[in-house]
Amino acid sequence: MATRRSNKWPSLLTNNGRGIAFGGDYNPDQWPEAVVDEDIRLMCQAHVNTVALAIFSWDKIEPREGAFTFEWLDRVIDKLGKAGIAVDLATATASAPMWLYIKHPEVLPIDKYGHTVNPGSRQSWQPTSPVFKAYALTLCCKLAEHYRDNPYVTAWHVGNEYGWNNRYDYSDNALDAFRTWCRARYGDIDALNEAWGTAFWSQHVNDWDEVLLPRHMGGDAMVNPAQQLDYERFGNDMLLDFYKAERDAIAEICPDKPFTTNFMVSTDQCTMDYAQWADEVDFVSNDHYFHEGESHLDELLCSDALMDSLALGKPWYVMEHSTSAVQWKPLNTRKRHGELMRDALAHVAMGADAINFFQWRQSASGAEAFHSAMLPHAGADSTIYRDVCKLGEALHALGEAGMQGSELERSDTAILFSAESEWATRSQTLPSMKLDHWHDVRDWYRGLLDAGRRADIVPLAYDWSGYQTVILPTVLILSDRDVRRLADFARKGGSVIIGYATGLIDEHFHVGLGGYPGAGHGLLREMLGVRSEEFNILGSEAEGEPFEIRLCDGSVSRLWQNVVTGLAEGTKVIAEYVGAEAAEWELADVPAITRHPYGEGAALYVGCDLDRSGIASLMRALYSATVVDQRIIHTIRRSVDGNAVFDCYLNRDRQPVHVQNVMGDPIVAHRCKPGARAHEYVMDRNSVLIVKRVE
Ligand code: GLA
Ligand code: GLA
Repeated sequence: MATRRSNKWPSLLTNNGRGIAFGGDYNPDQWPEAVVDEDIRLMCQAHVNTVALAIFSWDKIEPREGAFTFEWLDRVIDKLGKAGIAVDLATATASAPMWLYIKHPEVLPIDKYGHTVNPGSRQSWQPTSPVFKAYALTLCCKLAEHYRDNPYVTAWHVGNEYGWNNRYDYSDNALDAFRTWCRARYGDIDALNEAWGTAFWSQHVNDWDEVLLPRHMGGDAMVNPAQQLDYERFGNDMLLDFYKAERDAIAEICPDKPFTTNFMVSTDQCTMDYAQWADEVDFVSNDHYFHEGESHLDELLCSDALMDSLALGKPWYVMEHSTSAVQWKPLNTRKRHGELMRDALAHVAMGADAINFFQWRQSASGAEAFHSAMLPHAGADSTIYRDVCKLGEALHALGEAGMQGSELERSDTAILFSAESEWATRSQTLPSMKLDHWHDVRDWYRGLLDAGRRADIVPLAYDWSGYQTVILPTVLILSDRDVRRLADFARKGGSVIIGYATGLIDEHFHVGLGGYPGAGHGLLREMLGVRSEEFNILGSEAEGEPFEIRLCDGSVSRLWQNVVTGLAEGTKVIAEYVGAEAAEWELADVPAITRHPYGEGAALYVGCDLDRSGIASLMRALYSATVVDQRIIHTIRRSVDGNAVFDCYLNRDRQPVHVQNVMGDPIVAHRCKPGARAHEYVMDRNSVLIVKRVE
């Protein structure tokens, strides 16, 4: 693993450089220049203190090849800076100008069918194109030379959402790079043949020039899953290399300003393996767009729980979220009154020290005209802008109270996340095509919230040995090393919870033999004290068959039950399958959930999928000692010196909720007021309370 760059947070232009950062993407190049003065006036009124600038401005900066024009950008940056607004300056490379694509169509990505991707949107370039890289790095150098000493530019925003539109490129450049990548990974061709299992379907390769990308293979052809997984890893690595090349080109000239690139962490996406990317930035930043529907707040917290781990518990940056609806989903719900502020402050409660939106001024034309913004089409006389101003005040107050730099208190429970397992669950060669690691992580996260507990979400590759309990929902891939780490953890007293489809394959997509789960050459089974031989898969596609199977504790499984045939001595059955449906599938009395002592600790096996309520009741049974109100989210951020403590409360319910024992001074009380009793608050729907205690 790469060594992590040291954490470096961008300064604001305040007297001491500190404060909670607040602002958004700023695209003044979409507007006549006269609008800038009005923008800055309204930004100041809203306490905006930073913007991300020039993300899509390459064609304005270099309108013709080699003709660099910084004057307009200089004027904007100067005005912003003089108004006290710091600039996170983009490399502007996310979207190249049309002249470049017309002159060099060879930089355009190729899809898996061999079609050339047309320019006109964003990121229409091959991550492995040397021609494109030369142009992009020239631009980076020009920007670095020009803004190296500019005091208003306080951070570099490298690229934008790497992989959003060019995650999968099947060009000849990619093919050459893939062969080089495979050679570096495997060293000799026999190792690749072994890893990819090429003995299957006549896929043996004699040399590196026979190694292919998983381009379209016709009809319903199934791709070799090991090859596909390597292609996922390769694509991640090529984009990360591109990011590093841009960063390093700037750092040669301008080494002191911190670098970031905005991740795309939300529970419906897993574009990149950000556990690796987080090592390569100076501060971790994320773009998060809320999920429509009842999971809105829970999903936000779940994504943020992973963000906080990626940042190793240091504060992180919300680079983008929305004031209300987006325009890119089939159904774009708006935010209800209070949710703009609630979402922003929920990110703060989960460890964010910067709250930015896409974007400052809502576009009047182009693909994103109906995407909400801080200054909406309606103008400053609008609910959204007034809410933005209120949020600015609240964040300013939190900054004044010294919240910036305080760190989120960790949980004693970690749900382990693995980007590779998420990619693997998308393979169409598994017992069920409905597997989804990330969604199972989200269900466990929500089930735990329902049981009154908030877990952290930690990358499998990181160090989680300090937790009391680790949960692995559908971590399909476990290497021998991972299994040894889990066994060591349990031996030393930790509790491990293994989900129904965890540890079925290793990092090469090879199935562990001798019974499921076979990872670790039997060590995982030994730890669990369980062995199963087949999977019982349910679904409405199987007409006339039961579509759910009950467990004796009242919970229900609807997708997958492991047919457990062997229990080791000492394995205790916590729940088994019962009822007519179970009998119909010959699963009556078969163990569904088991517990096995292992060393000083124990391993719990959840051998079937459970929904949120099943997970919640299991967790309540396990942690029965603690009774917490699951309608309230309470997080704690503590200053690094330990003196100041910020208690953050969020109402997770649709009804008002009373919270008791709130000590300390309220800094932000959004939609909540003191209750009748001492230290009590009444929190309305979508409310947030942040109080400060001094210890
Ligand atoms: C077909 C093929 C076999 C095998 C099976 C799997 O019948 O001929 O090689 O792939 O499908 O069901
Ligand atoms: C992404 C991009 C932004 C914008 C938003 C819209 O996060 O980075 O430029 O397109 O989506 O939601």
